[in-house]
Amino acid sequence: MKTTKIVSTGACVPEQIITNDDLAKIVDTSDEWIVQRTGIRQRRISGGENTSVLAIGTARMVLERAQVEPKDVDLIIVASVTPDYGTPSLACMVQKEIGAENAVAFDVVAACSGFMFGLSVADKYIKTGLYRNAIVIGAETLSKIINWEDRATCVLFGDGAGGAYVEASEDSGIMQEDLGSKGELWEILTEGYTSPANAFNDVKPGVAPDYYVNMDGRSVFKFATKMVVKSVNRVLEQAGVTPEEIAFVVPHQANVRIIDVVAHKSGIPREKFYTNMDHYGNTSSASIPMALNELNSKGLIKRGDKVILTGFGGGMTWGTMLITW
Ligand code: COA
Repeated sequence: MKTTKIVSTGACVPEQIITNDDLAKIVDTSDEWIVQRTGIRQRRISGGENTSVLAIGTARMVLERAQVEPKDVDLIIVASVTPDYGTPSLACMVQKEIGAENAVAFDVVAACSGFMFGLSVADKYIKTGLYRNAIVIGAETLSKIINWEDRATCVLFGDGAGGAYVEASEDSGIMQEDLGSKGELWEILTEGYTSPANAFNDVKPGVAPDYYVNMDGRSVFKFATKMVVKSVNRVLEQAGVTPEEIAFVVPHQANVRIIDVVAHKSGIPREKFYTNMDHYGNTSSASIPMALNELNSKGLIKRGDKVILTGFGGGMTWGTMLITW
């Protein structure tokens, strides 16, 4: 049976590094609090580049590493909650800049699960045979929708992009997936609200504070630990794979404590969970592909390894995939 194989990975981040001590200069927080509660030590923050710049840099890297010509790309999907514009999509901006003139390009929105949802869509197009290959990217400039006066959220997030070039394969690739949505919980994590103000009503056009990330941190924590564990266990069970057979888990890089709980409850040894939130923070849809790219670039994954990608995010949403590398 045809599967979808990850051929290459890539990432692109802003150069500017903001440490926990830098944040302690603008809000009432400390390096100790942030490290203890989240595992984050520093993050990349835009020095002026918007999300498209990071997405384009990632697309160039995955194509170069896969040694594929832009005109041979069939599909471009970008996941983001912080695009440059409402329209055009980031995917169309990427298409223009890399010269992928024959591709179909569109964005998906599933917050921090966005890369998983984008990869799942690409996988279906490839499995049906409609398209041969795809570039899938998660890209965010979260710094533009963060309230820099809110210590409960501004310490958590960072900017960046990561992605993969995928194509049809007969032997290895995406073997099992579990995506889910729980819209009834949407209010526990929101960002980017725009008001319906117009010339014929008296709604105020102001953006703050609803425009920024608003989060009930404890409820998100509870949701994440419950759903990610269920989702990982479901994928293992459906694939008939044991925790011992997993070489690596690449989880959404939100909080090291969430990862500790997932490791404990899923039975997959904690050392198999790859983390890099200490130097990038939570980059939403970019976090899983950025971590996967780091793992791959270090040469740690071997062909044939069983790898789990798993994430959760606003919506609320979650997504897990088991991949034979
Ligand atoms: N620095 C110092 N103190 C802070 C702080 C900061 N940056 N942010 C919050 N606090 C304070 C709170 O005001 C509170 O003080 P109080 O006890 O005097 O009222 C105290 O720390 C505890 O706050 P609480 O929110 O209960 O902390 P927590 O242990 O739940 O940790 C999170 C907060 C956000 C780190 C945690 O809830 C979390 O990680 N949730 C999941 C978030 C997530 O993953 N979001 C992304 C989804 S994709």
